[in-house]
Amino acid sequence: MRSPERIRLLVFSLFLFALVALAIGYNPVPASSRGVAPTVAGAMPVGPPLEIKAPLGLPPVPIPPDNPPTAASVALGRRLYYDPVLSADNTVSCASCHAPFGFTDTHPVSTGVGGKKGTRHSPTVINSAYNSLQFWDGRAPSLEEQAKGPIINPVEMASTHADVVKRLQADPKYVSLFKQAWGTDQITIDLVVKSIASFERTVLCGNSAFDRFYYGDDKTALSASAQRGLKLFIDPKKGDCTTCHTIGKEYALFTDNKFHNLGVGADTRGNMTDLGRYDQTKNDADWGAFKTPTLRNIAKRAPYMHDGSFPTLKDALGHYIGGGNMNKNLDKEIHALDFLSFDERDDLLAFLESLTAKMPETLGPPPDLAPKQTAQNR
Ligand code: HEC
Ligand code: HEC
Repeated sequence: MRSPERIRLLVFSLFLFALVALAIGYNPVPASSRGVAPTVAGAMPVGPPLEIKAPLGLPPVPIPPDNPPTAASVALGRRLYYDPVLSADNTVSCASCHAPFGFTDTHPVSTGVGGKKGTRHSPTVINSAYNSLQFWDGRAPSLEEQAKGPIINPVEMASTHADVVKRLQADPKYVSLFKQAWGTDQITIDLVVKSIASFERTVLCGNSAFDRFYYGDDKTALSASAQRGLKLFIDPKKGDCTTCHTIGKEYALFTDNKFHNLGVGADTRGNMTDLGRYDQTKNDADWGAFKTPTLRNIAKRAPYMHDGSFPTLKDALGHYIGGGNMNKNLDKEIHALDFLSFDERDDLLAFLESLTAKMPETLGPPPDLAPKQTAQNR
């Protein structure tokens, strides 16, 4: 072949290659260096990750790989958490039912939009970062998934995800906060719940008198009565509470993250209207079982149990003294504790009260959202 012919062939093959490449949509420059935004579902916050420091008595906070918290995403999540804009009629925020600093509400069952009542007591958001499953029946696998629920629950915020996104998108303040946290002005429900979850991962309660006594070296932190109560709480022959409300060598979550039937809500015949975990698994062992709640800040969060049926801590303890309510699936670890003397019962209560700790003010509402919150005061 003479060289001009060779060149013509080369040019022709290049032309053919370009044509084929065009047809199959091949682009030699990788998507990441073309400045294409990653798909929103897998969006990552922009900016350096924020290190959440766990207080004394708590383990490091588990962080999902696709949602490392940043200062901006936590601040945005805090605002969303306290903003009633997430509800259909702008009256109910997450904090209406999970208010600082017990991060629950004072009613047996919560009240949502239009005064509608649910069937369960609002569990605390405190230390929910450590829960392996969310809700009393464990039906949500993560804080992100959990947060999608109340927004659309007809007896809670009664809104829709599309509506919430539309409202936030129409507010220049939110558009700019989302841009700062997520590098995009395209708000989605995933970014909303990821931000809220990151804020929730900072709602931690440790460093109580108990922690300073047990994990620190302040032997004066606990009163003599609370120290006796702690022994009773752990002693398998006495309170035996740590079987479920765990205390570890380095930290105490006060929950085994499992589900148990205490007969709370059972009538005299052992019938239960709320079957708890069973409704999710249809496993007989889960009949009438509910997730063990943490006991952090417990003295600040009356009423107690999944149905809020015990107005005081003393009433809740009374349930254990009586050995729970008989029913076909009562947990084998639950048995009468009527042998505990009255002094011992007081000691147990003194111990439970030692789990109260001061939480940082920065976990409360952003200043400009605070008045709305108290006006509601559900
Ligand atoms: C109207 C009251 C109400 C509102 C509003 C509400 N919640 Fe809840 N929340 C509840 C109740 C009740 C439960 C328990 C429901 C169940 O277990 O079936 C719950 C459960 C939870 C849990 C699970 C905790 C655990 O230990 O399992 C978290 C976390 C939570 N809510 C966060 C939020 C967030 C975030 C928002 C706002 C997006 C919110 N809640 C709005 C009442 C409410
Ligand atoms: C077999 C496991 C188990 C044992 C043992 C146990 N608990 Fe519980 N505890 C639970 C579960 C599960 C709940 C929630 C039950 C419900 O709402 O139906 C709960 C709820 C509570 C509550 C109310 C918490 C809240 O947020 O409303 C308190 C207080 C409490 N327990 C204290 C104790 C004490 C004190 C002991 C020891 C005398 C003890 N528990 C032993 C599993 C257990």
